[in-house]
Amino acid sequence: MSLLSAHSSIATGQYQLDLSNDAQLDAIEAVHAATALYTSEPVVDQLLDLLDWPTGGRRLVDPSCGNGMFLVRALERLLEATPNAGDQALLQLSGWEFHPPAATEARQRVETKLILAGRSAGDARKLAEKMVICADFLTKGPEQAEFDLIAGNPPYLRRLRVPTLLRELYDPVVPDYAGADLLHAFLDRCVRCLRPGGRIGLVTADRWLAAAQGAALRAELGQRVAVAHLQRLDARSAFIRAKTRASGTPPRVHPVAVLLAGLGERFCRSKQRGTCRERRDQPAQAANP
Ligand SMILES: C[S@@+](CC[C@H](N)C(=O)[O-])C[C@H]1O[C@@H](n2cnc3c(N)ncnc32)[C@H](O)[C@@H]1O
Repeated sequence: MSLLSAHSSIATGQYQLDLSNDAQLDAIEAVHAATALYTSEPVVDQLLDLLDWPTGGRRLVDPSCGNGMFLVRALERLLEATPNAGDQALLQLSGWEFHPPAATEARQRVETKLILAGRSAGDARKLAEKMVICADFLTKGPEQAEFDLIAGNPPYLRRLRVPTLLRELYDPVVPDYAGADLLHAFLDRCVRCLRPGGRIGLVTADRWLAAAQGAALRAELGQRVAVAHLQRLDARSAFIRAKTRASGTPPRVHPVAVLLAGLGERFCRSKQRGTCRERRDQPAQAANP
């Protein structure tokens, strides 16, 4: 059964997935099946600690939130620190997920937490729908610097394994230097939508940090962020085993937890070349460890 028949009535919040496009939904299903390695709670907490969440009324996004582990833990911590947090404070927290069933699950988990915290069912549903945006972060996500914190575990998938239909959508919006892997495209977009002085805490596969194919990406990112923390993770405990994966078969990735700190300087975008330039006040420690 296609996602269309299973989820044609999904509430989509701010943005609209094209539910009339079966081919697009099948492509999303294929990417989700290949990339849905959900992060285990201790690793999520470790990254939220590194981001010092929830101090300071900052805006946090998980750009590929899956079934919502980062969102749920961030929300729980926010509610523990500020039990009477109003809608505005709660909506500082958001997640994007383009796979409708995963987005529905994330919304349900957020909704449950809000009800437990004393919200009415109706309020909780509305907030959860706004908080979890069911749409493609690469084609519909923000391009301007609007987040103080970005947390999550972006999809890792080499370009050749991305369905053609999605590749054609991404090619016009993803710069060449970030086109080799979905992870590169997400890293680039995350850095671009980070406010000056913001921080990004992610689980990623390690290959972008050293592989020759990531050199141009590292050179670009290194203009705007520095690696503030880097730690190897154990693939057997960093991820929650997907239901489709047999037990005892850890994912074939070498995960790391990485904290990128925005250099906090002003940079200007060269529209002609599609690259970013900045004036630096201090020598950058490039994202090129
Ligand atoms: C590695 S999982 C991580 C989920 C969650 N952040 C976590 O750590 O548990 C990556 C998720 O990204 C989603 N995804 C892949 N490409 C996406 C895109 N272009 N826009 C939004 N979500 C996407 C996948 O469906 C998958 O659920």
